[in-house]
Amino acid sequence: MKLLVTGAAGYVGSVVAGHLLAAGHDVTVLDDLSTGHRDAVPAGATFVEAGVHDASGVLTPEFDGVLHFAAKSLVGESVENPALYWKYNVGGACALLDAMRGAGVARLVFSSTAATYGEPDVVPIPESAQTRPTSPYGASKLAVDLMIADYAAAYRLRAVSLRYFNVAGSWQGLGERHVTETHLIPIALQVAAGTRERLVVYGEDYPTPDGTCIRDYVHVADLADAHLLALGAARVGHTIYNLGSGSGFSVREVIDVVAEVTGREIATVVGPRRPGDPAALVASSRRIGTELGWAPTRTTLRQIVTDAWEFASSRPRAGPAD
Ligand code: UFG
Repeated sequence: MKLLVTGAAGYVGSVVAGHLLAAGHDVTVLDDLSTGHRDAVPAGATFVEAGVHDASGVLTPEFDGVLHFAAKSLVGESVENPALYWKYNVGGACALLDAMRGAGVARLVFSSTAATYGEPDVVPIPESAQTRPTSPYGASKLAVDLMIADYAAAYRLRAVSLRYFNVAGSWQGLGERHVTETHLIPIALQVAAGTRERLVVYGEDYPTPDGTCIRDYVHVADLADAHLLALGAARVGHTIYNLGSGSGFSVREVIDVVAEVTGREIATVVGPRRPGDPAALVASSRRIGTELGWAPTRTTLRQIVTDAWEFASSRPRAGPAD
């Protein structure tokens, strides 16, 4: 297929673009490099440096589909500057959907998030769970999901939203390197690498066995496989699938695995809770397993951390400011 991939200079987008190229697809990348890295765009893709607001200048009727990753994704930043999130994430998606309508491109895979659910009533979380986002980031992603549902119904889009839980790991030299790093595993690896002094554990008084938050870590390469399945199977309408491994690990358990994999001690200090962090988020990914046959294969935390460490330690200057 001839595909437009927005945001493929970023972490998940670059890994999915790499998988699409490896599967023989023709990939055009649209990325404004506001948070992504030019050298993360996989070789073999055509690169257009522009934002999603400019998608109409790129999308032509020859395209078979779009995978949309370009977005602002920092929960804390979204609380401080919600305007950026509504303009960039929601306004950008609206421009992209209109460009798709204009060009007659019907197939869409959208990068959504577990942040659309907020504090869950039941764990593991099914797609039928209530959506009560606790941040403007989650709200902006939910707004895009709702927009896609309306466009799909009225304009016969074949759309799939994939709601990621905690993505980690690396694939063929592509990994996580955010300018502002907020995620647990890369931060713990920075401590292991000696580029960060210590890790602040955000709260040890949650109602969990060791008092720290529980999350569901899914390997980025398993996540990429799900995108290819969703792309191929997308039917008229809007389908939502959760993507997680179905197992939960506490912050302390993650830190222990990072220490084990790297052979380094991870200095920690306990701090206050981070606003908006639910105690436990674990996905039920049963729907995508049943309907599309997705089955993650890199499910141990050890493997996920090992791959993340391989990427982090291959970048000697990688650190908090990289
Ligand atoms: N944590 C720490 N210290 C840190 C960083 C994280 O204790 O320095 C804790 C967090 O409090 C949380 C857990 O580690 O309990 C995981 O935090 P991450 O920031 O790695 O991931 P989140 O669960 O907050 O975020 C993920 C996705 C987001 C999404 C969110 C939905 O990465 O995109 O789930 O809640 F918005």
